[in-house]
Amino acid sequence: MAMAATVYVNGQISSERDAVVSVFDHGFLYGEGVYEVCRTYHGQPFLLDRHLTRLRASAGLIALPVPYDDTIFLDRIAETMSAAGLLPWKPGGQDAYIRVLLTRGVGELTYDPAACKTPTLVIIARPHVAPPARVYEEGVNVAIVPIQRNAPEALNPLIKSNNLLNNALAMQRALAQSGFEAVMRNHLGELAECSQSNLFVVRDGQVLTPPLRAGLLAGITRQLALEMCRKERIPFEERSLHDEELFGADEAFLTSSTREIVPIVRVDGREIGTGRPGAVVARLRQAFLAAIARHCPVTT
Ligand SMILES: Cc1ncc(COP(=O)(O)O)c(C=O)c1O
Repeated sequence: MAMAATVYVNGQISSERDAVVSVFDHGFLYGEGVYEVCRTYHGQPFLLDRHLTRLRASAGLIALPVPYDDTIFLDRIAETMSAAGLLPWKPGGQDAYIRVLLTRGVGELTYDPAACKTPTLVIIARPHVAPPARVYEEGVNVAIVPIQRNAPEALNPLIKSNNLLNNALAMQRALAQSGFEAVMRNHLGELAECSQSNLFVVRDGQVLTPPLRAGLLAGITRQLALEMCRKERIPFEERSLHDEELFGADEAFLTSSTREIVPIVRVDGREIGTGRPGAVVARLRQAFLAAIARHCPVTT
């Protein structure tokens, strides 16, 4: 385990050792739950409103009522962060990793949602551990894996679900191939996304990413990257992509809340572009830092 976490479970805050959920929770039994991961900059959660909106959307897609409004979530998150000693911002202080999980709750051994009266709310707060600097400076190798991304008609990747077996199996393959991430295709053979991040390529100065209909999570950093392209007047398009377009890209990168924007410089060990992080990724990275400064200003 990286660093000690502080955990909120249904009204109780405890250390990671003492944080427990019933084995009869349908989140544990059936993977019936949804979650969000966001991080703080200078003690302030980044784009938390968007994360909470997506949490509600995910919950809606599994017919899980959310009995809390945003203020309740904000209060519980702040409480958990305080207990973890991660608030307020201090010079040189650690940024926080925040994971919010909402599961169906405890109930009889049946798929009938009526069996679970109260959802389980869990919030995990711990110091954020950033990837090593070389990840951003040198870029990473990713592996295209044979595990297909769930088909939307089977298990919609728009649901940010606690049931992460598809993602875990893909990442196991990538780890075996020294991949920083696993690139997954959909059932049509189109590129979809990575096991825990979204995928972009840059070709002839244009930023390209698979459309949501390819079957992928509507990443908040993905959306932000597209907004930054618009602002920076970098041409972009959401369109179906194939292996060749990744191998033949000038640049490529992946996005996620915890990893931000990571340059991809090799795919299955084969160099793409110059083999070094490129100019478009660098511009987007700058724009990203500006967005952080805008949304999470340093306040003392
Ligand atoms: C499958 C998948 N795709 C994409 C992402 C990136 O999403 P976001 O930018 O909202 O963190 C994640 C994040 O965990 C993910 O699990």
